[in-house]
Amino acid sequence: MKKTRIIQLCFLLFAVAFAGCKGKSGSEQAGGAFTPGELWPDNNGVHINAHGGGILHDGDTYYWFGEHKTEGTAGNNALVGVHCYSSKDLYNWKDEGVALSVVTDDSTHSIAKGCILERPKVIYNKKNNNYVMWFHLEPKGAGYSGALSGIAVSDKVAGPYKFLRAVRPNAGSWPTNVQDIHKQRVPESDRSKFTGGSLPAHPDSLNLLGRDMEGGQMARDMNLFVDDDSKAYHIYSSEENSTLHISLLTDDYTNYSGTYARFFPGRFMEAPAMFKRDGKYYLIMSGCTGWAPNAGRSAVAPSIWGPWEELENPFVGEDSDLSFHSQSTYVLPAPGKPGQFIYMGDRWTPENAIDGRYIWLPIRFEGDQPIIEWQDKWSY
Ligand code: GAL
Repeated sequence: MKKTRIIQLCFLLFAVAFAGCKGKSGSEQAGGAFTPGELWPDNNGVHINAHGGGILHDGDTYYWFGEHKTEGTAGNNALVGVHCYSSKDLYNWKDEGVALSVVTDDSTHSIAKGCILERPKVIYNKKNNNYVMWFHLEPKGAGYSGALSGIAVSDKVAGPYKFLRAVRPNAGSWPTNVQDIHKQRVPESDRSKFTGGSLPAHPDSLNLLGRDMEGGQMARDMNLFVDDDSKAYHIYSSEENSTLHISLLTDDYTNYSGTYARFFPGRFMEAPAMFKRDGKYYLIMSGCTGWAPNAGRSAVAPSIWGPWEELENPFVGEDSDLSFHSQSTYVLPAPGKPGQFIYMGDRWTPENAIDGRYIWLPIRFEGDQPIIEWQDKWSY
């Protein structure tokens, strides 16, 4: 074989091998950079299916749990369950399969196929050496009227998780910052007055807290937060989404302790994501406009129990009033960078749920104010 022919052949082999590598990674995302809003292929080249998700850092591995969505509008309901992916570097994700499956053989089950199962989050419980998953649950066929929290546990991080129960928070308990107005008896005429959406009047006057005191408060958009002292909290939109509640969980993280407080009454905070920086607590949140994006919100507090001070929209620049077409789902401490954080948001596509995209961006600070700027491509 002539020398030039050998060089040509080597070049061809190199080109084929290179193309093979690219084919495997599938996009810019796999490798070493985040590409917000693009398709994010997993190790099989399939767009990651973990919407409304959160991350658990366990040992040297990151686990991403999120809603497994399917095609079309039907895909907004839970037809599969909670999907899990693992990664060592946050860029390359391995499909770990379905961590919690919906129940397919009993349509009356709390997590029957077709229920609404949103914003799942998993935390590790040191005491029991197990993993505890919480999610917003709406039983099948009742729209968003249930406002329940679902809880599941597993001894193995990627599952399978066993469903424990569906509950309304803190039945029979008043929040630590309850006011007399909440304890007044709700007139029957008020009970039907409020069906959701924004209110011109302060919702405290409708006494939604009192209405739900006996049966348990409502819980929709949610997150979990584990503090440095291992105490864990459930943070959720309550009182018809009008008011955010923060509840201390029991030591095993599988139930409410009965200690809780309410914040931002009448502000309709959704999509809460809590993190701690230099001893202060922060929240990134959204307004309440369903799948449609709105301007982000942020807040800071010296203690988890407040006082919470609302700050500005953390998003800055073009489309900041739409949070860059995203809604918060989690804030992740940046690996190996104390004091730095990654915003994780969803760009929902309710007309074809499975196509939802992930908007992950770095968070920087100006004083206490978190700032999120758009980047097409970035690395930490
Ligand atoms: C959003 C919420 C999502 C989902 C959606 C349904 O406001 O953040 O998790 O519940 O409404 O319309």
